[in-house]
Amino acid sequence: MTKFETSSYETIKSALVNRDLKQALYDEGKVIMDGVLLTLHGDEHRKRRKLEHKVFQRDFFKYYEQELFPKTLNETILPFLKKGSMDLIDFGYRITMNLTADFAGIDRVKKTPQETENLLTLVKTFSQGATLVHSKRSHDEVNKEVLKALDKFEKEFLSPSKQRREKLIREFKNNKLKKEDLPRDVLTILLMNEDNINLNNDLIKREIAFYLQAGSHSTANSMTHALHEIFIWCQKDPQNITKISEDSIFLQRCVHESMRLHPASPVAWRKSQCPVSLEKNINMKKNDLIIMDLHEANQDKSIFGKDSHIFNPNRKVSKNQFLWGLTFGIGLHMCFGRDLDGGVVPNENTDPSNHQYGIVTLLVKKILNENGYPDPKNMPKVDANTERSNWASYPIIFGEKK
Ligand code: HEM
Repeated sequence: MTKFETSSYETIKSALVNRDLKQALYDEGKVIMDGVLLTLHGDEHRKRRKLEHKVFQRDFFKYYEQELFPKTLNETILPFLKKGSMDLIDFGYRITMNLTADFAGIDRVKKTPQETENLLTLVKTFSQGATLVHSKRSHDEVNKEVLKALDKFEKEFLSPSKQRREKLIREFKNNKLKKEDLPRDVLTILLMNEDNINLNNDLIKREIAFYLQAGSHSTANSMTHALHEIFIWCQKDPQNITKISEDSIFLQRCVHESMRLHPASPVAWRKSQCPVSLEKNINMKKNDLIIMDLHEANQDKSIFGKDSHIFNPNRKVSKNQFLWGLTFGIGLHMCFGRDLDGGVVPNENTDPSNHQYGIVTLLVKKILNENGYPDPKNMPKVDANTERSNWASYPIIFGEKK
């Protein structure tokens, strides 16, 4: 097997839409990722994606962002505001845990912080299993922890959520419930399985576990990176604070610019299913591997300009490029949560009072509005357990800066 590497933006774009290249980044993480949407290929992937896409529609994202999310956000942040401080990573996981559980279809019946905490602990273990390829820990040890966590997850969360949905689906089939009154989540869609695709209980368990970790980890880290970039940018020029606080559309640009610099997955891996030529020097035979450096590609000077390595929310990009670059992927596996987390890109006709900003911008906005700033006595720490550039902790304080 030959291993190719590229950080060319255009080559990566062409690879991500190529049907002869199969997902390979999660081959190490099979215990949790085997058979889940992100690792499927060809017809199987197309059918599963079509079925689950029913949950991920723009109109529902807008409703979620404007109607449901503000309440969850206020409830989750309130204890921290009272305390006067919080850790961004801890908060980010708590808030996104509820968000991804809603979309995945996992009920939190007790509605207690302890229950969210328990789910969170399980999901962090799933996440370590999925990204095993970048883990510095013993792979055997991580896999054992993942299997144990999957068991616990099934007993405490998945089974009760399934039972409730199965009852509702029976009521719907007996004309006692309207379709629009069924929960709108991946678990319900899979249990209904209207397209009759190949599924079994173990697969559903891994799929839901995948959804929980795919959405929460990336959202929590994106929020923290965005705030970090904004804190530094405002330190350089205090006038930037006014600009950000007065213009939410501009704040969304700041978030997109930070997403460009900090893609949740710094690389994408694909294996060729047959000979594939991507550019002059990348001629793959069957079963060759291509490692695509999304982090580097997102700083491609020909696309993002000479200062592509720095945070510059005033950056101009051509109309056919997204400011966040390849951060949400493109093509066959493009992220389902893109519009939910990133929102919609505004245009000259956008009404700021009714715009879909995306969950990450809403989180950042709330923390800035509450005068959150880095705790000078408690420096942020990077996560030493992974090669990914994640924060392990990021303490902040609320109130006027002293
Ligand atoms: C800032 C936040 C997020 C980032 C940066 C992100 C990034 C990505 C990327 C890069 C991929 C494609 C990976 C590849 O091509 O190998 C992806 C796929 C995916 N993402 Fe996200 N994601 C985010 C949030 C979410 C959320 C909130 C959800 C769900 C609630 C979600 C669900 C998914 C799913 C289901 C896929 C697989 C799609 C497929 O394989 O067809 N993501 N994400």
